[in-house]
Amino acid sequence: MITNKKLDLKIINGNVLLTTATGELKELKTDLGITNGIISSIGELKTTESEKTFEASGLHILPGLIDTQVHFREPGLTHKEDLESGTKAAVLGGITAVFDMPNTNPSTTTRELFNEKVNLIKNRAWCDVGFYIGGCAENANQLAELEQMNGCCGVKIFMGSSTGSLLVDDDIKLDLILKNGIKRIAAHCEDEARIKERKSIAIEGKSVRYHHIWRDEETALIATQKLIHYAKKNKRPVHVLHVSTAQEMEFLAAYKNWATVEVLPQHLTLSTPECYERLGNFAQQNPPLRNAGHVAALWKALSKGVVDIIGSDHAPHTIEEKKREYPSSPSGMPGVQTLVPIMLNHIHEEKLTLKHFVQLTSVNPSKIFNIKGRGFINIGAPATLTVVDLKAEKRIENSWIASRSAWTPYDGMKVTGWVTSTIIRGQIIMQDDTLIKDKQGQLLEFEARSS
Ligand code: DOR
Repeated sequence: MITNKKLDLKIINGNVLLTTATGELKELKTDLGITNGIISSIGELKTTESEKTFEASGLHILPGLIDTQVHFREPGLTHKEDLESGTKAAVLGGITAVFDMPNTNPSTTTRELFNEKVNLIKNRAWCDVGFYIGGCAENANQLAELEQMNGCCGVKIFMGSSTGSLLVDDDIKLDLILKNGIKRIAAHCEDEARIKERKSIAIEGKSVRYHHIWRDEETALIATQKLIHYAKKNKRPVHVLHVSTAQEMEFLAAYKNWATVEVLPQHLTLSTPECYERLGNFAQQNPPLRNAGHVAALWKALSKGVVDIIGSDHAPHTIEEKKREYPSSPSGMPGVQTLVPIMLNHIHEEKLTLKHFVQLTSVNPSKIFNIKGRGFINIGAPATLTVVDLKAEKRIENSWIASRSAWTPYDGMKVTGWVTSTIIRGQIIMQDDTLIKDKQGQLLEFEARSS
């Protein structure tokens, strides 16, 4: 459609990833017109008047990318991150919306604590935010109501302990949680009994090199199989977070009707033993980084369609905390700002296509979690967009990192592919690594139906 009304913004000559009638992505060199934060026209706009013009020759315009797993640590752990610093890091890395995890202090498990978090984003969020409610024994019976709160993307459970005190390590509680509600349950799958049984490996080893031996493949597989058992029993969809092993991928391939699957950029990029030699405790994370065989299996699963989502599991800890003697050092690494450049570099290396990446970080998150108005570029959709340059050669540096933790495991890495701009509802928030407009983040809206 071509409009003659004056536009607020026109983005011209970009390669736009549009959605076709069948839901496929199609790349088209065209112009986008934006009025009142909404895409009002798609097609040539050379002569159409506009308040602002964004010249996007050579750039790709993507539906706003979404990171469905971040830990922004507020309340209680704000020396590591808060909702303001975390969302700032997100927009600098081309992320337009995040799902924040409930393992804060206190854990987000009640209506009051959830609403406190919702209030915390007012005038402080750089991108849009959805929140998980934490599932636990105490709130299992209320989860059907709690998951319907405004801004709630779903329920998160930890089957093995990680950062914080949230834990569901008992089958009866797990069954009860899966019975109560309809939204997708996102699960951290590591078996708590096996973690406890084998903790001596880490304590006696006194080195992060033992981390993936302590929390081994079996630890992950046992929990994943248990989750699927109860998902089938209760006919409840689940989302298996940060799948890290070949065994889980092989298993999950047969249960795509019940489970959606997430992988992390770090599990696709870093591997043992090299990561521990180079990064020490900074490579410590749960589930652990694994060997090259597992990395190859994750890529194979991704190419076969077993993987639905790429999330960062942005889990910042301070440099001082990470330097504690293993295993007192905390697990987790920041990633919300590096997700897009790291994956664009993989695209440059032809490990996946740009369309597939957009499917995994925008289209699928939107469909799987029923996010309103996200995951597509079309007339009438909010103009929330990520603009990337697939050819830009850059170096990731700690100095670029906006997270309060101020480090990245990719410090010094050269990449091809970089984010040029982050646009939220027609406002260019970030351009060329600089924040040029004030915060526009809002609470994400979700359709009430089951996923
Ligand atoms: O390594 C991790 N750190 N894995 C998790 O699941 C939690 C996270 C954190 O919150 O620090």
